[in-house]
Amino acid sequence: MLEKIDLAGKKALITGAGGGIGRAIALRLAESGMKLALVGRDPQKLVRTAALTGRPLDMLVLPTDLEKPKAIDEILRILSGHFKGLDVLVNNAGAALNRPFEETSEAEFDHLMTINARVPFVLCQRTLPLLRQSECPTIINVGSVVSHKGYIYQAAYAASKHALLGLSKSLAKEVAPEGIRVHVISPGSVYTDMIRIARPDLGPEGMIAPEEIAELAAFLVEHRGNAIIDEIELHRTGKEPFL
Ligand SMILES: NC(=O)c1ccc[n+]([C@@H]2O[C@H](COP(=O)([O-])OP(=O)(O)OC[C@H]3O[C@@H](n4cnc5c(N)ncnc54)[C@H](OP(=O)(O)O)[C@@H]3O)[C@@H](O)[C@H]2O)c1
Repeated sequence: MLEKIDLAGKKALITGAGGGIGRAIALRLAESGMKLALVGRDPQKLVRTAALTGRPLDMLVLPTDLEKPKAIDEILRILSGHFKGLDVLVNNAGAALNRPFEETSEAEFDHLMTINARVPFVLCQRTLPLLRQSECPTIINVGSVVSHKGYIYQAAYAASKHALLGLSKSLAKEVAPEGIRVHVISPGSVYTDMIRIARPDLGPEGMIAPEEIAELAAFLVEHRGNAIIDEIELHRTGKEPFL
């Protein structure tokens, strides 16, 4: 039986925590007693996530656009000061794009590379000094099945998610000797706003629920066995995923 870490009072930063997968991970980690810093652009959605945990006073709502140059400086200032440390970083905020290759602009490519790869890179780098002080330092990066595969109209999204997988795998090896775990969860077709916007013709049938991803994230944080799990890939039942 794997030993389960008591997460009560431990601290996590979750990006994109105002809905979808990020909110589900926030609620699940809050259930285990964690204190959370919730990051996203829309303050109302973050406040709603904090309220749904049932412990809003243990939650820090940090509305910010992570693509803005000073956003991560400000988050780090708060984590080191008021929040007093960090045990878990969840890089979940992201954006997708379904557009034919020749119609994808350089600005769209840069935007996806920034939010899906550059922001996680900077957050990993800047939070490592805090994670080094933790007893259970863990980074979870939310990739995609598109971290491995290509689908039509998704060249920019695929490039950004491949980049996130590559940086995660290398970082995992680099910090493993220090006891810092780096995991990637790569889902395909989770029923969230992202898929509702990309494919309004589809309903939730057969799709992965955000809570299934949250359960895996909690498992990775709560268990530190000798087997290092570097990546978990999930497909919806019986169908090709597409995000
Ligand atoms: N849904 C799927 O099928 C699927 C499949 C594979 C991978 N993923 C990945 O899962 C992650 C979460 O996506 P989701 O499905 O839960 O979609 P979602 O509901 O659209 O969530 C995306 C989140 O990212 C946040 N975000 C985007 N740009 C941001 C920025 N510049 N600064 C701060 N926050 C920003 C959004 O915050 P605001 O709403 O406040 O702007 C939102 O909370 C993404 O990385 C996505 O690529 C999703």
